[in-house]
Amino acid sequence: MDSALMQEQQTVDLRSVSLDSLDDWSRTHHCNELGTKDIGKEVILMGWVQRRRDHGGLIFVDLRDREGITQVVFDPQHNAESHKRAHQLRNEFVIAVKGTVRHRPEGMTNPKLATGEIEVIVDKLKILNTSKTPPFLVEDRVHVSENVRLQYRYIDLRRPRMLRNLQFRHRALQITRNFFTDHGFYEVETPVLTKSTPEGARDYLVPSRIYPGKFYSLPQSPQLFKQLLMVAGIDKYFQIVKCFRDEDLRADRQPEFTQLDLELSFENEETIYSLIEGWIRRLFKELISVELPDQFKRISYDEAMERYGSDRPDLRFGLELIDVTDIVAESDFRVFRQAVENNGKVCCLKFPGGVRLSRKELDDLISLVQSYGAKGMAWIKIQPNQWQSPIVKFLGEGVKESLAEKTKIKTGDILFFVADQKNVVQTALGNLRVHLANTTGLANEDSFEFVWITKFPLVEWSSEEKRYVAVHHPFTAPLEEEIHLIDSEPEKVHSRAYDLVLNGVEIGGGSVRIHRRDIQEKIFKVLGIGETEAEEKFGFLLEALQYGAPPHAGIAFGFDRLLMLMLNVSSIRDVIAFPKTQKAVCPLTGAPSEPDIQQLLELHLKVESPD
Ligand code: AMO
Ligand code: AMP
Repeated sequence: MDSALMQEQQTVDLRSVSLDSLDDWSRTHHCNELGTKDIGKEVILMGWVQRRRDHGGLIFVDLRDREGITQVVFDPQHNAESHKRAHQLRNEFVIAVKGTVRHRPEGMTNPKLATGEIEVIVDKLKILNTSKTPPFLVEDRVHVSENVRLQYRYIDLRRPRMLRNLQFRHRALQITRNFFTDHGFYEVETPVLTKSTPEGARDYLVPSRIYPGKFYSLPQSPQLFKQLLMVAGIDKYFQIVKCFRDEDLRADRQPEFTQLDLELSFENEETIYSLIEGWIRRLFKELISVELPDQFKRISYDEAMERYGSDRPDLRFGLELIDVTDIVAESDFRVFRQAVENNGKVCCLKFPGGVRLSRKELDDLISLVQSYGAKGMAWIKIQPNQWQSPIVKFLGEGVKESLAEKTKIKTGDILFFVADQKNVVQTALGNLRVHLANTTGLANEDSFEFVWITKFPLVEWSSEEKRYVAVHHPFTAPLEEEIHLIDSEPEKVHSRAYDLVLNGVEIGGGSVRIHRRDIQEKIFKVLGIGETEAEEKFGFLLEALQYGAPPHAGIAFGFDRLLMLMLNVSSIRDVIAFPKTQKAVCPLTGAPSEPDIQQLLELHLKVESPD
């Protein structure tokens, strides 16, 4: 904050300011509304003091409310008493003014402000409340830590950008509700105190007071309840719902976040795709005037991994992975040959202009791919008239020619190579691809590239848990034509799951479900969930599947993530009124906090500190 302003603010004794009540005053306009059409009108405005300026006798106040700012003027010639009291005004005081709209004097208009041509000359001022000096100014360019912003979130939310984000969210919620209602969906609420729903994270647990040693789980998603609603014949369900996941947080992850969740009976993938595309097209058109294509792209999981090294590819730029396994199998470079002999792969990424990268920058990129599991990374700089690389001496002329042809290199390019097992190569180069694009501004910030990822593997081996785990969740249907492989080669079976990816962010995911008990039991078995465990955890679902469960399918969207991308903000915390920090705390309320000893006793709990 401006230091002169701060000093002045601190010199007021807030107790000496006498406060007024509203009485019969009622607001006539918001602070964005008045213009030259209103000149001469008597108006009443209410809001916060954005700024007070003393100018040779006149006092100007920028009065702010949710909608905007209006300049109000206190003139001793016009009304001496109001002018005198206006001296007491400080930033963020809450006031009401009654006055008359007039044209601003020649040369004093402000074209940047909606109300910039007028001002209100004040007849009467009411001071409704005072304010301590706020920890930061209420304006978009604040230079304070996010912790302070979150601690004083009620002040942070007064900033125009944050208000805009909340208004945007409100409109998105309304459009969504209307859209699905128009398409025959019922909005049904599902329990928050419930049983574990596995979505790959840890559960938040709530101890039961009545049943010592028993706990409710907060839902990671309404997955099982929405399937039960299909068994109940609800046919089309949606909900805008909080989900809770105890996992490591990132810019696009919160411990509690909002899903648009939905489920339909008697429908397949195609219905879901066209329904969702319709919804998203409507959101983009109505909220940000962006026309999206009639059909979104689709690529299979395998193709996404091969071309982009990721199951959430950012399609705003190229930089595709190039498989050169067959070419370098012939080379004398030990690392490449060994990878090929071990049934691995060698892929490369061509980065135009990469010859300018320094040794240090190359080393940093090598560290980056190593953090994703690669053992190393080789590179070749295509300099005028020669290839510059530690490995070039191992590549014969034939290999060089084939590489040049396959990668279509030009002078100035650099090629990066990773040799390893397929998944390591893809993950390492996929992350390098995104890193290079982000650090060189390759991705157009104004473009929205949607892509459906289809045909995921049903399960993958978890070396940590020493068992197969579901790639989506355990209730996802396998592809019927591959189901015969489920016992012998489960990792070869694909599922009927789909994700929707926008600009490299997974915004939604879902699947056609298993609606038969025998198949569901079979999948549990493949996932190493024994009969007793299946009965104990999901017995109610298995039971329900026996009472006429219809074929059904669904999907859920990370609502916060979608808004974050539409608003082009870098964190989902900016579209949530009261988010948690990256460390899962709420600086405003201090949650999580220690309970009273009495509460612990009632819950039959004893806390042991980790050390
Ligand atoms: P899934 O686990 O993929 O699917 O979640 C759906 C979408 O929710 C968003 N998301 C998150 N957003 C913010 N913070 C988080 N911690 C977080 N975790 C997930 C993602 C994701 O795509 N029941 C299934 C859906 C279904 O099968 O119908 C489910 O929850 O954008
Ligand atoms: P080294 O044999 O470890 O000295 O590595 C020789 C060159 O090969 C260095 O440029 C390494 O970065 C590179 N390299 C090492 N391991 C790999 C790998 N798995 N894939 C690609 N390049 C590698």
